[in-house]
Amino acid sequence: MNILGLYGAFGFDPWEDPEQAYCHEAGASIVKDGVLVTSICEERLSKVKYDGRVPANSIQYCLKAGDLSPEEIDCVYIADCGTQVFYRFLNDTKKELKEFFINAKIEILNHHLCHASASVFTTDKNEGTFITLDGSGSIVFTENQMVGYEASSVGYFNKEKKKFRIFQSHPWSNNFGLYYITWAARIYMQKIEKQIWLCNPEYRDTYCGKIMGLAAYGKPKYDVNDFDVNDSTTPEVQMRSHPDDGKHHEVFDLLEADDRAYFLQDSFEKGLLTYLKLLKDKGYLEDNLCLSGGIFLNILANTKIVKEGIAKHIHIPPFPSDCGLHLGAALYGAYMHDENIILPKNLATLGVEYTDEQIQDTLNEQGIKYKKYDSFSDLCDEISKDLRDNKIVGWFQNKSEHGPRALGSRSLFMNAQPKENKDVLNSKVKHREHWRPFAGIILENCVEEYFEEGFKSPYMLFSQTIKKEKINSIEAICHEDQTCRIQTVNKDLHPQVNSLLEAYLKLTDSPVILNTSFNDNGQPIVETPKDAIETFLNLQVDTLAIGNYVVKKINQ
Ligand SMILES: [Fe+2]
Repeated sequence: MNILGLYGAFGFDPWEDPEQAYCHEAGASIVKDGVLVTSICEERLSKVKYDGRVPANSIQYCLKAGDLSPEEIDCVYIADCGTQVFYRFLNDTKKELKEFFINAKIEILNHHLCHASASVFTTDKNEGTFITLDGSGSIVFTENQMVGYEASSVGYFNKEKKKFRIFQSHPWSNNFGLYYITWAARIYMQKIEKQIWLCNPEYRDTYCGKIMGLAAYGKPKYDVNDFDVNDSTTPEVQMRSHPDDGKHHEVFDLLEADDRAYFLQDSFEKGLLTYLKLLKDKGYLEDNLCLSGGIFLNILANTKIVKEGIAKHIHIPPFPSDCGLHLGAALYGAYMHDENIILPKNLATLGVEYTDEQIQDTLNEQGIKYKKYDSFSDLCDEISKDLRDNKIVGWFQNKSEHGPRALGSRSLFMNAQPKENKDVLNSKVKHREHWRPFAGIILENCVEEYFEEGFKSPYMLFSQTIKKEKINSIEAICHEDQTCRIQTVNKDLHPQVNSLLEAYLKLTDSPVILNTSFNDNGQPIVETPKDAIETFLNLQVDTLAIGNYVVKKINQ
């Protein structure tokens, strides 16, 4: 059975009125006879960051990857983006899709159910609890009256017993996503000294990560809980999400942006942990907990959830935000049709494979001089020398990552030791706000040597504290609070990066390098060899390692 999962602004323009009908991170996934073949976000193909439009390019990409024609698709599952306009044009959407996928059954799935699926069907556990928390999900109705949009959902799964259902959904409380988005946008505009009305709703997702980074510079100046708790049978935590609702103390308005960012992050974590602990105390949580929804991109909160021991095993997929919805929809379809779901070892590398021939043809088309390495370890030795010499390296290997992070398939690497490398990389290539830290990538078996927590983190979902004695050796990735968003790699999940790090360790005695996404400022991460070569040529990147080929810029 061939199942296509989709997410996007079917029936409306996501940019016409983003306050009323917002949709971002559109894309498509394909599951063929239970095997997850590929998953892609539209932005990687359209080159429009956070592209929420109908994922036309992604559909073609998936059909090609699955070697399928539209007539061969049996089911199309669309994750609901939760806007009223989506429902208004639902019949037209189904009709249009039916004209293309003439043999397919077309079905719409609940937003939070798709988020949950993306987590539940990618964990190796059979049974457990799932929690979804995001900005806003599907419309919630009570007695045919619309009461709001899903903010939180809790459910139970047992795959063998064929149980998978949401048992609590709250539209207004447990509103951690909306709380963070609302305040982050305001604080960001305050930090860059622009009025809030200039804030572009299309970029509201980027504000959250930026303000999370800024929080490390703030001080705790305002010690009060920014939420109300309803300790009832189905616990609720109400964050004060509306800056103009008058519930905040006046002193908050006087704070500098850095201190406000600290306050926001702190309140968010306190509210979230209060909610999770209430769920735990009331017996809702099983040993295995699957988390999903955009708020689980907050690596600081994720680390606290694990440290607090909210559950024995916590699973967060590498695509907790809306980019995981089409994948969740496709996996839910496979589950409903009793398919035996087969996933790749590395849950993040879900793009298509590009061959040596494709890469070489693209290099030749661009008229670029390159060196081909017959031995990948020789290539890694050469790249290690460049990294040691503080060169900026573009790294294009393996299938592209699904999700917002560059996890060693489409990355820019640099030596993590000299503190100034952060500024060098920022001034030459990334042009990001100065307060934002760079992430790192480390051999898995060295993580305990460098970090207090020592978590394995193959999908970069946690922040970890750098051990005091190691700070000097990785200053370029040490944040203001001595933490780092670190990814751990091993041979099994990340063979190419693992080889590079082993070669780098041998050469420099360090198992860590700086890792950031391979993209131009404001652009999505590169997808194809052509994207990578063009971006390499446009940016001040010194070396490109693409498949078995190395390209170097001279005199830079
Ligand atoms: Fe969502």
